[in-house]
Amino acid sequence: MTKDQMVSVSVTERIASRPFLPFALPDTGEEEIREVTEAIKSGWVTTGPKTKQFETEFARAVGVKHAVAVNSCTAALHIALEAIGVKKGDEVITTPYTFAATAAVIRYFDAKPVFVDVEPKSLNINPARIRAAVTKKTKAILPVHIAGMPADMEPIHRTAKRFHLPVIEDAAHAFPAKYNGKMIGGLSEMTCFSFYATKTITTGEGGMLCTNNGEFAERCRMMALHGISKDAWKRYSAEGSWFYEVLSPGFKYNMSDIAAGMGLAQLRKATAMLEKRRAIARAYNAGLSHFPHFQLPYDDPKHQHAWHLYMLRLNLDTLTIDRAMFVEELKKRNIGASVHFIPLHVQPYYQHLYGCRPEDYPVAYHEYLREISLPIYSKMTESDIEDVIDAVVDVLIQFGR
Ligand SMILES: Cc1ncc(COP(=O)(O)O)c(C=O)c1O
Repeated sequence: MTKDQMVSVSVTERIASRPFLPFALPDTGEEEIREVTEAIKSGWVTTGPKTKQFETEFARAVGVKHAVAVNSCTAALHIALEAIGVKKGDEVITTPYTFAATAAVIRYFDAKPVFVDVEPKSLNINPARIRAAVTKKTKAILPVHIAGMPADMEPIHRTAKRFHLPVIEDAAHAFPAKYNGKMIGGLSEMTCFSFYATKTITTGEGGMLCTNNGEFAERCRMMALHGISKDAWKRYSAEGSWFYEVLSPGFKYNMSDIAAGMGLAQLRKATAMLEKRRAIARAYNAGLSHFPHFQLPYDDPKHQHAWHLYMLRLNLDTLTIDRAMFVEELKKRNIGASVHFIPLHVQPYYQHLYGCRPEDYPVAYHEYLREISLPIYSKMTESDIEDVIDAVVDVLIQFGR
């Protein structure tokens, strides 16, 4: 037995005896319980004072005039596209390297997501390729800040300006993130955040639409609550009125005060949680950087990475297993890993609808084949972090070339 193999045996035994480390876990505690209990005890459990407070505090945190709390980022993206008037047959330029929701909301209008391939380094939409995708039908540009590393917004805004197109940012991963020193949230016409269970702050399910444009804010607020006239949520309060008018067939996307209570507590911890994720990313980078088997996640110091995901890329020619098997091997070592994302153009729906083939967006497709996301959340302990690195190295010892 070689020395490497001996080290590997003891590491394997140690990791095998640990409980399974989930890929993601929310960092919640007494503060969240206190806020949620307060909402329940107050009797105001749906949209009310806590939601309004959460909107105000979130708007302040990202430096934007208006924040509209909703029950998902998907809802926020939907009402953002509605507010700019997307209609059947329109086109919205976006990335294939994203979650289902980014393009599904475009399809809600019977409009077309026009995919533009991503940059190899960041896996964000390639700004240099956007111009060629603009047509007379283009209605908006919808970049995604993958993993929490901001897309390159300056050239995106330049192209948007040239063609008079609004930009709606899918910032599901990007709180708190900065582009050139400015918080993501107020840089474009509208920006949509997610507070889904695995996100950097969570309300269980939830989202926030941010904008500096009062008209967009008003339209989104109305469409998120049945399309009924102003301050619909107040109609059961002392200052409210029973009278309302339906102005549009709106949606039921409002956030509850129970969720907002959780959001308020999470918001207060957002910076501390980011510090912890940053430390995990640093530890992974230090533990893995000397192996030729990996490409470390992209991080441009000019900006601020939210570190929602730690997206490692495998150099497959240095391994005897593929990415799917790598995920399985980590699982055998009690480490939950994941893959972000299966590009939309290889999903059956888009293949059937538009005849997309994997090679249509070669960067997205080939990077997807070698991407693996390691756990990165503030609840992880020092020994969890060490176990992840040891497990990854242990897989290498067994399957590296
Ligand atoms: C890039 C991206 N956009 C949008 C969403 C949708 O967020 P939500 O679950 O809050 O609707 C997600 C969720 O994972 C996402 O990853």
